Amino acid sequence: MTKGLFITLEGGEGSGKSTQIERLKERLEKQGYDVVATREPGGTPEAEKIRDLLVQRDGGRWTPMAEVLLFFTARIMHVEDLIKPALAEGKIVISDRFTDSTRAYQSAGHGLPADQIEAINALCLNGFEPDLTLILDIDPKTGIERSLKENQTGGTENEDRFEKLDLRFHENLRQGYLDIAGHEPARCKIIDARDGITQIADQIAQSVFDKISAR
Ligand code: TYD
Repeated sequence: MTKGLFITLEGGEGSGKSTQIERLKERLEKQGYDVVATREPGGTPEAEKIRDLLVQRDGGRWTPMAEVLLFFTARIMHVEDLIKPALAEGKIVISDRFTDSTRAYQSAGHGLPADQIEAINALCLNGFEPDLTLILDIDPKTGIERSLKENQTGGTENEDRFEKLDLRFHENLRQGYLDIAGHEPARCKIIDARDGITQIADQIAQSVFDKISAR
């Protein structure tokens, strides 16, 4: 049985992940691949319930560690109920965010010790990581402006809790992602998100096809 491929897209606010996931899914399907697009927090009914607690304005005030545990609770359900079964069927799974978001937001951004997050990760996921992670890198100011514009027109006003955080946080977040890529160059690829949509889509597709042919 062929094992599938697990790809994640990561990045700060307004990095354009969702558009790129749609583009990548289309390209892969055109080539005959079976693709599942999903997101975190969320992706399964139980994980989507936890998403409401985490990202909605009235979702509650969690301490940083409580928040990490909620992200991982959702992630366990996502991995066991959706990601692993799809990979076992040989599908390509593309997730909008995964564990690197917890590393970047909760550790680099909010200052939780990285080793604590890694300990929880080991306990919850037992070393399960994406085959390929594409990090859409953009200067935080440009990203937040883009993201606020999208929210005003796109009707997701209720999910803007994370975007209200200050610029310093977003700069730390960006550095967090760059550090992750620096530590794991075989898994992670930085994509310049200032480029045009089609240019970015081309770069992403190239990285994915390189990964497929290297296996
Ligand atoms: P979402 O509206 O999906 O944001 P985006 O479009 O930027 O992906 O909301 C998800 C928010 O949750 C986002 O601000 C990042 C945050 N998040 C964490 O802080 N830690 C995590 O582990 C994950 C998966 C997401």
